[in-house]
Amino acid sequence: MKPRKRAATDAPYNDLDLSRWKEYGDVWTDSLWHIPSRARGNGHALEYHGNFVPQIATQTFTRYTRRDEVILDLFLGSGTSAVEAARLGRRCIGVELRPELVEHLRTKLGPDDARRQLICGDSSATGTGDAVRAALGRWDRAKADLLVLHPPYADIIRFSDRPECLSNAGSTPMFLDLFRRVVALGWELLEDGRFAVLVIADKYEGGALVPLGFECMRVMNEAGFRTKSIVVKNIEGNEVGKGRANNLWRYRALRGGFYVFKHEYVMIFDKPRRSQSNDRR
Ligand SMILES: C[S@@+](CC[C@H](N)C(=O)[O-])C[C@H]1O[C@@H](n2cnc3c(N)ncnc32)[C@H](O)[C@@H]1O
Repeated sequence: MKPRKRAATDAPYNDLDLSRWKEYGDVWTDSLWHIPSRARGNGHALEYHGNFVPQIATQTFTRYTRRDEVILDLFLGSGTSAVEAARLGRRCIGVELRPELVEHLRTKLGPDDARRQLICGDSSATGTGDAVRAALGRWDRAKADLLVLHPPYADIIRFSDRPECLSNAGSTPMFLDLFRRVVALGWELLEDGRFAVLVIADKYEGGALVPLGFECMRVMNEAGFRTKSIVVKNIEGNEVGKGRANNLWRYRALRGGFYVFKHEYVMIFDKPRRSQSNDRR
């Protein structure tokens, strides 16, 4: 199909035809997402405890990228971003720490190709930047068009025993320190004027709430990212078989005076162009 000629009123960072904006009922613009069940099929499966529902990728890739553009996911996990990027005609570079997971993905999805490059590495290490830059270079690109960050929610799920894994950070300040390094890398590798998506939740520790989501937002802001939106999303669909545990949590909540988490955040940021950042000072 011949690409449509873009109108001056269209956003420069997506393919939505704003002269038909009323027809885009499937593109969400509200800040509360209740997703009744995870999208299945199209290569997606709930095979990894802690992966995000594909709808997060569908919505944000549609809003913040154009066809063939490059999405960089620095916590690729089971590859939801890579699968959805290919389905939507985008390209994806994904970094994941666990070699066995990257191998599994290569077996499942096939070798790297024109739509996907997987890197096994530590996103908090500066050397990983060189690997991502080499991957971008293979596509004649210097930077990515969208940054996706879905870190472990501190120690809520232990993803591996590796010391570089953010789920093994040891304390919230140490987790935020590692996260800060990943954000610095993401900032460097993202085009100016483009968007970043952070999927994160809060946690409880020692009987009190740790506002991990807002702490991570602060780290993003300190790196220079500007918060555009905070979406609150229900978490059903992320978890494998929590039936009995759910009841236990309800008991603990009644006893401990707190509420059981049923939400997480999808936070949207942009990386202001240099002239925009100067405007803000
Ligand atoms: C919440 S999961 C991401 C899930 C992913 N969005 C999906 O849909 O499958 C976080 C992932 O980050 C990985 N990880 C943790 N620390 C990392 C690091 N320093 N560098 C790269 N990946 C890391 C973990 O192994 C885990 O697979």
